[in-house]
Amino acid sequence: MPTMPSVVQFFVLLSIVHVFGQKTQFNFKRRVSLNDKKNSAISWLSDDKSITIRAEYGTQGWLGFGFSPKGEMGGADIVIAWIDKNGKGQISDRHATSNGFPPADSKQDYKLLDSSKNATHTVITFHRLLKTGDKEDLDLTTNAVTNLIWAYNDMIPESIDAIDYHHSNRGAVRNVNLLSPKARN
Ligand SMILES: *[C@@H]1O[C@H](CO)[C@@H](O)[C@H](O)[C@H]1NC(C)=O
Repeated sequence: MPTMPSVVQFFVLLSIVHVFGQKTQFNFKRRVSLNDKKNSAISWLSDDKSITIRAEYGTQGWLGFGFSPKGEMGGADIVIAWIDKNGKGQISDRHATSNGFPPADSKQDYKLLDSSKNATHTVITFHRLLKTGDKEDLDLTTNAVTNLIWAYNDMIPESIDAIDYHHSNRGAVRNVNLLSPKARN
C-alpha cells in the first residue's frame, strides 16, 4: 500500500505532465492519409474564418502541402515546412506559377503553431485564414472542396532560400471537403 505522501506526489506529478502535455493539443476533426505507404497524413480543424492543419509526414526533411484547383502544381497555393538543423520549425508560404519550384509569396500568411519530430516522422501544425487577402493565396471558400497536393524530401533545407527542389515522394488527394464538419466553439 502506498503511503499518503507518495500518492499525493504521484497526482502532483500527473497534473504537471498533464499541463505541459496540453501545449500541442488540438481537437482535429478530419484526417486524410496522403500516400499508399500510409506514413503521411493531414489532419485539420476549421471555423468560419480560419483553418488549422497538422501535417505528419514520414520524413526528416521538408514537407510540402498545397491547395490545388486541378490537383496539379499549376495554380496551387503551397506551404513548405521543416525542422531546421537547430531544431527550430520553419514555414514558408509559396505559390506555384508553373511546374517549377514554387517561389515564396511576398506576403507570408501561414503561422507555425508547433513542430516536432521523431526517428521516422516530422509533425508540423500551422494556421491560416480562409481568405488571406493575398493574390498569391487561394481563397478557401465556404464550400471548399479542393484537391490537395503533397511532396516531401528527406533533405533538411539550409535556409528558406535553399530548399532542395527534387521530391523523394509526391502525390495528390482529390475532392477533400476542408470545411466539413464545422468545429465546435
Ligand atoms: C513518430 O511520430 C509519428 C507521427 O506523429 C507517429 O505516428 C509514430 O508513432 C511516432 N513513432 C514513435 C516511435 O513514437
